[in-house]
Amino acid sequence: MTLTPETQATLLQQARAVLDLNWTGGFTKPALRQYPHQWSWDSAFIALGYARYDQARAEQELRSLFAAQWADGRVPHIVFHDADPAAPYFPGPGFWQIERSPDAPAGRHTSGIVQPPIHATAVLHIVRCAPDRQRTLDFVAEIFPRLAAWHHFLYLRRDPRRENLVYICHPWESGQDNSPLWDAILTRMTLQPQQIPPYRRADTRAVHPDERPLDFDYDRYVYLADFFRQRDYDQARIFTDGCPFLVQDVLFNTLLCQAEQDMAALARLIGTDPDPFTARAAATAAAIEAKLWDEARGMYVNFDLVAGATTPVPALAGFAPLFAGIPDAIRARRLVAYLASPSFGLAPHEPALYPAASYDRLAPGYSPRRYWRGPVWIQMNWLIMHGLARCGFGDHAARLAAAIIALPAIGGFREYFDPETGAGCGAEDFSWTAALLINLLLDDALAHADE
Ligand code: DGY
Repeated sequence: MTLTPETQATLLQQARAVLDLNWTGGFTKPALRQYPHQWSWDSAFIALGYARYDQARAEQELRSLFAAQWADGRVPHIVFHDADPAAPYFPGPGFWQIERSPDAPAGRHTSGIVQPPIHATAVLHIVRCAPDRQRTLDFVAEIFPRLAAWHHFLYLRRDPRRENLVYICHPWESGQDNSPLWDAILTRMTLQPQQIPPYRRADTRAVHPDERPLDFDYDRYVYLADFFRQRDYDQARIFTDGCPFLVQDVLFNTLLCQAEQDMAALARLIGTDPDPFTARAAATAAAIEAKLWDEARGMYVNFDLVAGATTPVPALAGFAPLFAGIPDAIRARRLVAYLASPSFGLAPHEPALYPAASYDRLAPGYSPRRYWRGPVWIQMNWLIMHGLARCGFGDHAARLAAAIIALPAIGGFREYFDPETGAGCGAEDFSWTAALLINLLLDDALAHADE
């Protein structure tokens, strides 16, 4: 579907209205009722939208997130701001109790885990879109040490065997909470009722339970969060004390690799040595190539450190290395052939009807409306689209961009979409859907001038 200029202008206006609705003056809520605080990778994607038309807000979005950074460099996956009684959230600050850790930021309420590191990439994007370069360089100088500390935390604390691949320890850290990627691990976790702290879900009040994770998954999310809390968020203890979930995740490591490439570009801008960042990006790319490529399936897969084996699950995240320019030409062609098959539906000769599903539509367990078990996510498709363009598949990228832009016109500014019908699912008025639509609609030569 190609949209007329008038429809595009209307969509742009609507997208800005969504961000205005969710903007608090200091940061942007992902969605007013479902996610009423600040989320780490949401803020980065949201900044990619603001970068196109409001530099001050783009900077403030990331500044406010990094203001809650921990002393050890970790950037928490949620920063809790003033609670809205009409929008309860679980698990809140009373559950996390981050004050148990000597590294927690004083007087701030956050979670104790992290989310994918796409922040340096967002900062470089802000620079490239900036109308006021001098002001932006001041912002880069301010945030650069915080970004460096964040990446240092990941390589120091999450890569104990020095493989240049970092691990995640909770499905929430992947951003893809109930993806089939985690099924084998979560099923392996046999828990007694007394091991699960009592809790009440808040996530099925505003969104239909059919579109959210099952209680089975939630019990394990809560168990893991409690496991970290009991160890005062000490990374070494969590790793050595039998944490049942330790995964070298494809998407997380790909975004870290790209973020390191982008740190090198930022370092050059402010006259700092880019070489350590370039070297670490190359080392992580090489480790992804060596350890996470699945030759039989023609895609990248996660490595489960507890089982000591890969988990060959066909999720869209398995194509993410295109985004960081990691695969060679042969592997890239295999990835694109799989993406173009009915499994993901980015067919070569016609405009893609809808963007790619988050999980192979022909695989067992595919569920078109249940959160990460099938629905289309705009931010994943935005990453894949850039990856296709970067790796020489410009036609595929252009078709996918058109399909992404058309989706909110069909399904609204929703959190995710049914890949069979385009119908919107999950939270309404979702910030990164709006922000990435703006990012695409206002993509122009200026933004790429110094790429
Ligand atoms: C949620 O609240 O469902 C988030 O995905 C966890 O961060």
